[in-house]
Amino acid sequence: MPTFKIDGREIPFEKGETVIQAAQRAGIDIPHYCWHPGLSVAANCRMCLIEVAPPPGRPALMLNVLSYDPETGEYVDQQKPKLQPACQQVVSEGMDIRSESSKHVEKARASVQEFLLLNHPVDCPICDQAGECRLQDYWLEHQHQAKRMHDEPVHKPKAQVFGPTIVYDAERCIVCTRCVRFCEEVAQDPVLSVRERGNVNEIVVSPGRQLDNPYTLMTEHVCPVGALTASDFRFKARVWFLRSVRSVCQGCATGCNAFLDYDPRNQTVYRHRPRENAQVNRYWMCDEGMLDYARAHENRLGQAQLGSGKASSETVTVGTALDRAAELLRAADPARVGVLLSAQHSLEDNFALLELAQRTLWSSSGVARRDALSSSRVFATGRPAGEGDKILRHVDKNPNSAGVAALLAPARPQNFAALSAAIDAGAISHVLALGSAIDPGTVAGDSRVASLARLQALIVLGTWEGALSRAAHVVLPASSWAESDGQFMNAQGLVQESEQAVQPLGQSRPAWKLAAALGVRLGAPIPWRTLEELRDALAGRRLGAEPPAKRSLQPGAVT
Ligand code: SF4
Ligand code: SF4
Ligand code: FES
Repeated sequence: MPTFKIDGREIPFEKGETVIQAAQRAGIDIPHYCWHPGLSVAANCRMCLIEVAPPPGRPALMLNVLSYDPETGEYVDQQKPKLQPACQQVVSEGMDIRSESSKHVEKARASVQEFLLLNHPVDCPICDQAGECRLQDYWLEHQHQAKRMHDEPVHKPKAQVFGPTIVYDAERCIVCTRCVRFCEEVAQDPVLSVRERGNVNEIVVSPGRQLDNPYTLMTEHVCPVGALTASDFRFKARVWFLRSVRSVCQGCATGCNAFLDYDPRNQTVYRHRPRENAQVNRYWMCDEGMLDYARAHENRLGQAQLGSGKASSETVTVGTALDRAAELLRAADPARVGVLLSAQHSLEDNFALLELAQRTLWSSSGVARRDALSSSRVFATGRPAGEGDKILRHVDKNPNSAGVAALLAPARPQNFAALSAAIDAGAISHVLALGSAIDPGTVAGDSRVASLARLQALIVLGTWEGALSRAAHVVLPASSWAESDGQFMNAQGLVQESEQAVQPLGQSRPAWKLAAALGVRLGAPIPWRTLEELRDALAGRRLGAEPPAKRSLQPGAVT
């Protein structure tokens, strides 16, 4: 691999790479605002300037400048090297770059930083970006001197509503155009542009439009300062109180890698941010997924309940609910017990439920595992399909449809319509269900709920309230993806891990633990007690045919 030098350090590079790309890969930080690895190069902020030493025997490229002499009070002619933007400068073999080691670069970065802050309101105490703002960080690293301009700064529009999700503050904007380029190049909706020049320029939305495409929150994410803020997150939390886990978006089958930010003091989840994964989502997420974090707290089932099959009303302990569930299942004809898996739940949860059914119900009726899976006893459901696109969004709005299919392979999962038909035909009298959402499939309107009402027992291990929990005889509260570690297989067949952020709500606990506890009551030999043991058992199963499952738990880079 060819190499070049930054501050005397030998760095390998790939043909066509820019200095900033090669440096970042080598763990060297070159300050930047406008450059983003997923966007085209604008080279307009000039924060990344570097000095390129001339090849041996060649004169340096110099600029004539006027320099102020404080002793004489005169401006004098001088020369300085012509600095280059590292985000645009393509590397060549043997190139000698000076970044931290150049006095000229140090001065240029301080000057650029001072220039960017000339008209800035410095309203950090009320800015949502405070704590993760490049202007703050780079002031400390590269400027660290008080403002020298004492004139009234230029005033520009504040708190402009760009659309349903984004608010713009023109005074904080450094016009790096990341948001403009994102809309044009990634969201494919060139709705933002720059108006005016010099210190009165600002970002504007096209006349007659709002910033309202499916990827608007990414503009806030790429904004390196506090100019674009998300209506959803504005004034809700200070980022230095938040902690992050590596999560997987639950919004659709793409399985975008995300950070889930939460406040450990009040056990509250505040936002989703994209986590870089070149194979899945690159640097991006859609609005649906960014806002999907809210489901960690909304509409939750936190208590065990006993119901009549119409409305679950009596709150009980999890132990009592497990006893009742075991009692109902023991009384059932095993051949008429169905299992409903959920594409909303992790591989571990689905696997545990299948194992439970196999080790207790069906094994006692002599049904072999392969026959059980391929017979009309196992069904799967999830959230109904929605809108997709060619950027990221998948029409399947479940994070683990491929995982459920892989667990059942080579049999194909039957949908909720098939379960409904089996109940109506009297083939299924008891259902052990995971999740709460129902994809009605071909079953129309209320008939799906009517089928559930015909069941002698519906036992639901659910996280959210929904059609299933409302019709259940026993509800066992399962923790959400934000409250437990879990693996999800996305539409590409990639198995990805999502980490626990907050503590389980109320009495809830991971569904795989509930399944294990129910198995013990039913006298099943459950061979796993911990998540690791469960995963070992799961790893023993062949997951999916093509492509082979791969694990992904990437750290995610800061851009
Ligand atoms: S709003 Fe943010 S991303 Fe857009 S140009 Fe201004 S500083 Fe850059
Ligand atoms: S594309 Fe799907 S997985 Fe990605 S952020 Fe959007 S909803 Fe989440
Ligand atoms: S990051 Fe290179 S000019 Fe802005």
